[in-house]
Amino acid sequence: MKIAKFLLIIFCILNFNFQSLLADEEKMAKGLEIFNETAGCAACHALKAAGSDANIGPNLDTVSLTEELVKEMVTHGLGVMPAYGEGILTEEEIDIVSFYVANSAGK
Ligand code: HEC
Repeated sequence: MKIAKFLLIIFCILNFNFQSLLADEEKMAKGLEIFNETAGCAACHALKAAGSDANIGPNLDTVSLTEELVKEMVTHGLGVMPAYGEGILTEEEIDIVSFYVANSAGK
């Protein structure tokens, strides 16, 4: 009985990690699509992982970014950079594209 419980716990942990891994992969794929298509970030920003080399905004591979910082910037915009939180992207799309940019910058 004890072993069965132990195995069940291990299984749950592995299963949980596996699912969160898959979720991350999905977010990265969706984030790339938002970056290049839905939001058009690629029209202004270079990001090697997304295959973009535009130079209207800062090169996202060379600035130091956290997911929070990207989220702030995308939500509120600054100067030429649109405020995507004002009806352009949903909150979920902003979360996903911020996760994508923070995890692919410099790669
Ligand atoms: C119309 C051009 C344009 C588009 C489209 C655009 N940006 Fe920007 N972005 C800029 C400019 C210009 C700045 C610099 C703003 C400033 O400092 O005045 C900037 C700044 C940023 C920064 C801050 C960089 C730093 O130096 O810390 C991030 C992060 C960012 N943009 C991400 C994004 C993402 C993600 C998207 C798509 C959802 C996007 N941008 C779409 C022009 C754009």
